[in-house]
Amino acid sequence: MGPSHVAPPATDMLDRTRFPVDEWALTESRYSAHDLGTTESVFAVGNGYLGLRGNVEEGRDSHTHGTFINGFHETWPIQHAEEAYGFARVGQTIVNAPDAKVIRLYVDDEPLLLSIADLLEYERTLDFRDGVLRREILWRTPAGKRVRIRSTRMVSFTQKHLAILTFEVTLLDDHAPVTISSQILNRQDGEDEYHVRAKAMGEGVDPRKAEQLDRRVLLPEHHSGDEERGRVYLGYRCAESGMTLAVAASHRLETENERTVHVQTADDLAKVVYSVEAQPGVPITLTKIVAYHTSRGVPARELLDRCDRTLDRTCDQGVEQERADQRAWLDAFWARSDVEVPGQPEVQQAVRWNLFQVIQASARAEGQGIPAKGVTGSGYGGHYFWDTEVYVMPFLTYTTPRAARNALRFRYMLLDAARRRARQLAQKGALFPWRTINGEEASAYYAAGTAQYHIDADIAYALSKYVGATGDVDFLNREAIDILVETARLWADLGFWRNEENGSFHIHSVTGPDEYTTVVNDNLYTNVLARQNLRRAAEAVRTMADRDPGAYEQLVRRLDLRESEVREWERAAEGMSIPFDEHLGIHPQDSHFLEREMWDLANTPMSKRPLLLNYHPLVIYRFQVLKQADVVLALFLQGETFTPQQKRRNFEYYDPITTGDSTLSAVVQSIMAAEVGYHDLALRYFLSALYVDLADRHSNTSDGVHVASTGGVWSALASGFGGFRDLGDGRWTIDPRLPDAWESLTYRLTLRGTRVRVTVRPAELEMSVEHGDHPLTFDVRGESVTVAPGEPVVVALKDQGPRLSGEPSSPAGTLRADGTVISAIVPSGE
Ligand code: BGC
Repeated sequence: MGPSHVAPPATDMLDRTRFPVDEWALTESRYSAHDLGTTESVFAVGNGYLGLRGNVEEGRDSHTHGTFINGFHETWPIQHAEEAYGFARVGQTIVNAPDAKVIRLYVDDEPLLLSIADLLEYERTLDFRDGVLRREILWRTPAGKRVRIRSTRMVSFTQKHLAILTFEVTLLDDHAPVTISSQILNRQDGEDEYHVRAKAMGEGVDPRKAEQLDRRVLLPEHHSGDEERGRVYLGYRCAESGMTLAVAASHRLETENERTVHVQTADDLAKVVYSVEAQPGVPITLTKIVAYHTSRGVPARELLDRCDRTLDRTCDQGVEQERADQRAWLDAFWARSDVEVPGQPEVQQAVRWNLFQVIQASARAEGQGIPAKGVTGSGYGGHYFWDTEVYVMPFLTYTTPRAARNALRFRYMLLDAARRRARQLAQKGALFPWRTINGEEASAYYAAGTAQYHIDADIAYALSKYVGATGDVDFLNREAIDILVETARLWADLGFWRNEENGSFHIHSVTGPDEYTTVVNDNLYTNVLARQNLRRAAEAVRTMADRDPGAYEQLVRRLDLRESEVREWERAAEGMSIPFDEHLGIHPQDSHFLEREMWDLANTPMSKRPLLLNYHPLVIYRFQVLKQADVVLALFLQGETFTPQQKRRNFEYYDPITTGDSTLSAVVQSIMAAEVGYHDLALRYFLSALYVDLADRHSNTSDGVHVASTGGVWSALASGFGGFRDLGDGRWTIDPRLPDAWESLTYRLTLRGTRVRVTVRPAELEMSVEHGDHPLTFDVRGESVTVAPGEPVVVALKDQGPRLSGEPSSPAGTLRADGTVISAIVPSGE
């Protein structure tokens, strides 16, 4: 949203009577059936491979039951009403996996259904320190008996295939027959609740949601049960993609009450049913250990064996041990990654929730990408976008480099598909898909999809930062260099020389990050990032030739690399066209951007937002109006190539015409507002990003957590307020901008294996090494500062950087060089 629509500087956007402040947990103290979609997403547990939405155990009441496995998808032929050569062909959609969360409870044969139950007490907590979701309720049954129910749920960070659920029931007043039916239920054989409801209400379908397949996706391959061991198994194969899945659950019921057990399985349902003669005060405790395995080729039957192995191991080790391992894993995570905002408990809570989401989306993604919604929902079909490289990778690179490397290796695995895609688009090198699961381009709408060639440069960018920050030259030389070379080839081939003598290199017919302007010439962001890509590739190849001639020889042979190519990349980088409007003092977003009419955002009613759901794309494309930061993002990622004056002018021009209709925007606007001096605005953007999901600010958290924004929250803290920039080759600068209302901010960076804690206070910056043996040197506002183990340093900060009052206003009314005045309108319509 333009600044006047940015959230007011209130630090709190949650109903605290329902979600009390807790710096290490998200707690819900009152049940509501009105926002189940949101709470299912924000209380989801996951590890980057397996994700369980925060559905209630009892099944029934839900917005969307959801169990997601990263990369487990179905394919379908994309039908274009009007075909053209090279259009994306293979649709890919994450499959909602069989649901093992379901534990139904009956007391006196009356079911517990939260939406209608007489709940005397209710509390649900997601604890960021041990990664366990706990719920405790006190239910008065229709017969007036009080029943205490405690349940827990976790997805393991240490065992990627594992989830553990517990369910404890105690009658408080009277005896009663109790039935606990623990299930694995496959619902993926028709429409989900959202689509059924949307159709019934005659609603249009939102393009940001997953494609709905109206045929059976999961073909049953196996079902069985083992009463003695309390185990049940289901196995499936996806009808078109051929991917296979097995899920198994092992049960143990502990109670002093008399009980019987009954196991039943069918194609889409496996259940273990306990009938208990419950006496008051005698607890019944069910432990359900669940394993999921998936594969692209292995038959489901074999995956069942893998499930058994996961379950056996966990049963041997015991649930307590798994919990202790989980806690230890998360302790280490927080030690590396925590960001502290003392004196701001609401902000602190939300910050930790966001960071917890990034790791829930990425920790065990291994071999897969990081979906736009992590494993919390089916939004965007479970696809991987540039969100990973530009928004999630900074956090991973500087706190959990192993996960960053995995994400990059995943791209490396897709290189062959990217080479094929480049050929299809008549290009050399490799073109990564704009959105994908299996490596094929899945974006049916090329203007806002395939045309975003910048994905190549984003990957190269993340790769260079990773190698620079970790010193992982081995990975660069063995694998990652191929990505740099092939993406550089793409740019050198895609662009062309115009007026050869003037030496300007142009890239035409591409779309930048801002999807409200598409297929343009010389998109500033693309050109700036492509230039960087070309330079990094040339440098990497030359350094390799110099330092590791053997590896260089292999590279030359493997990729048929020629010296003339490398020179061509350097020349293209030097000649890259970076349009600048001298009169306005800004970089046009593309070569025609400034010729467009200006959209009057300030007078566009909220009922017309987001624009993408209210206007035909052509209407939007005609105007100067942005979905998300574009030039402003380039100012951040390639800050060293712009002057402070250029940054300020650009920010002031673009900020008022940026809708922020994408959640990828606010974090970037926060960072650049902080840098150029709009401190209050920076905080407002930050807060609006911080609460994107917790307060459902974009009304679609029900589709899943906005993972790019959660990663961006870290960047806004470390790079925005914290002022950290990585200029590459071990050059790191810190120029902080602490919000006036904050007493301090502490963040951590792991660089070349050394972890440094950085604390920003109003008048000083403190740094100390928390882990590792090597000293690190930073440039702090022009001063070189070295921090070594056991030798903390404190640097005096004279001010908080430039300070501008108010916020930039719309460029409407600005006089152009040709004498015309920029005016703004709101397009009319129904
Ligand atoms: C944004 C893209 C982003 C995608 C997935 C879109 O709304 O415009 O930049 O990659 O969402 O998060």
